[in-house]
Amino acid sequence: MKLIILSLILSINSLYALEKNDEAQKNLSFEKILTELISRYENPSLPAPQMDEETRKELESDDRMYVSVAVSDKRERTKLLELGMDIIEVKKDHVSGFISKKDLPYIERKEFSVMEKKSIYEWAKQFEKDFPAADSAYHNYKETYDYLSQLASANKDIASLFSIGKTIEGRDIWVLRLNSSSKGEAKSSKPGAVFVGNHHAREHLSNEVPLLFAAYLLDNKQNPEIKKYLNSLDIYIIPMFNPDGAEYDIATGKYRWHRKNMRKNSNGTIGVDLNRNYDTTWCKYGSSSSPGADTYCGTGPFSEPESSAMRDFILARKNIKTLQSYHSYGSMMLYPWGGSYDPVPNEKDRNAFIKMAQKMGELTGYDPKQSSDLYAASGDTCDWAYEKAGIFAFTTELEGSSFYPGASIIKTAVEKNINAAVYLLSMTDNPYK
Ligand code: ARG
Ligand code: ZN
Repeated sequence: MKLIILSLILSINSLYALEKNDEAQKNLSFEKILTELISRYENPSLPAPQMDEETRKELESDDRMYVSVAVSDKRERTKLLELGMDIIEVKKDHVSGFISKKDLPYIERKEFSVMEKKSIYEWAKQFEKDFPAADSAYHNYKETYDYLSQLASANKDIASLFSIGKTIEGRDIWVLRLNSSSKGEAKSSKPGAVFVGNHHAREHLSNEVPLLFAAYLLDNKQNPEIKKYLNSLDIYIIPMFNPDGAEYDIATGKYRWHRKNMRKNSNGTIGVDLNRNYDTTWCKYGSSSSPGADTYCGTGPFSEPESSAMRDFILARKNIKTLQSYHSYGSMMLYPWGGSYDPVPNEKDRNAFIKMAQKMGELTGYDPKQSSDLYAASGDTCDWAYEKAGIFAFTTELEGSSFYPGASIIKTAVEKNINAAVYLLSMTDNPYK
C-alpha cells in the first residue's frame, strides 16, 4: 500500500489532534501529499513487477483485440464506436482502441481499413514496467475515502462528507461538500459547482485530480480568492464515481483496462458504460447496444445505480450551475453537444461554453472543442446536465499517453487542472460574465 508513513502520521494525528483543526490540516497539506507522491514515485521501494502467470492467463482469455483503424473524421469515429470499438486514442489519420473478437469482422466488413491488430495480451506486454506496484501513489477506493474523511474532519467549519448513493456492488459514492453555511444534505441557495472523476474505471488519473483539488482548496482556505469561493459557493467533489470498476481494474495488482461499471449483463458480460447511460438521445450515436462492447449503453436510460444517483443528486439541487467531469486521456476541454454535431442552439449559452472552454484550455494547455468534434456519443453526463438542468458542464480529457501513465504525471496534471477548476469556480456565480 501507498504512503504508509503519511497514513500513519494521519491516523496518529486523527487520534490525538482532531480538535486542533489547523494541526490536522497541516498534515493533509496539498503540497505535502504532492511531494510524497513524487518521492514515492522517484524512489520506488518495490521492483518493477513482471506480468505474472495469473495476469497472463486472464489477459490471454480477454476477448478484446487491440486495433488501429484508418479513419480521419468524427463521423467515421462515431461509426466505429457504434460498431462496438472502444476508441482510446485519436490521431490525425487513424484511431486505436479495443474491440471484441466477435465485433471485429463487422468493422472489417464495413470497409474500414484495419492497419494493425493484436490480442490485448500482446499489446499489454509493453506496459509491464508500469504495472501497479510502481503506481502505488494512486488512491484506491479505501484510500480515497480515508483521505476525504480526514479532510472533512480536519475542516469541520466548511467541509462535510456524504454518499450520493450506492453502486451496483453496494459501495458508497462519496461526495465531499465545501460550503461555509450548509453541511451534508442540507439545501443551499448559493451557486453550486460539481467536480466528478472516474466515470471510467481505468482512468485513475481522473480520480486524483478532483481528490487533490479538494485538498488544495482546504489547504488554501485562508487565501482571499479561495476564501471568497468557499464562502459564496456550494462546491461538491466526487472523485471516484465508479468505484466498483476502479477496484476491479486493480484487484489483481495488475491492470485490466476495464472501462465500465460492474453490472452483470444477461449474456454473461460485465458492465455498462456509465458515460453512455444518461438520458439524452440515449444509445443513438457513438454507443453500442451490444452488452459486451465497451461503449454498451445499458438496457435503458439510467438503468445503472451510479448514473441514477447522479441524476437524483443533480435534480435535487437546483442551485448547481457548473460541472466538470474528468476523464483520461487526450488533453481536451470539451463542451456540449456530445450527442449531436449541431452546436447548442442557445447563442448566449454557446458563447459562454466556448469562452469558458477556451480559458480552461489556456490554463491547462488542452484543446478546447465541442465534444462531438472528437466523436459523437449519446448519453454522456454533460449533455444531460446541460439539457435537463441548464448546467454549464464540461468534460476534461486529461493529459497522458496511456490510461496508465505512471505516478509522475499526477503532479503536473493536478497543478494545471487546479488552475482551470479555480477559474470554473470564479465563473459559477455567473457563467455569462
Ligand atoms: N472519452 C469520453 C467518452 O467516450 C468522452 C466523451 C465526451 N463526449 C462526447 N460525446 N464525445 O465517454
Ligand atoms: Zn472516460
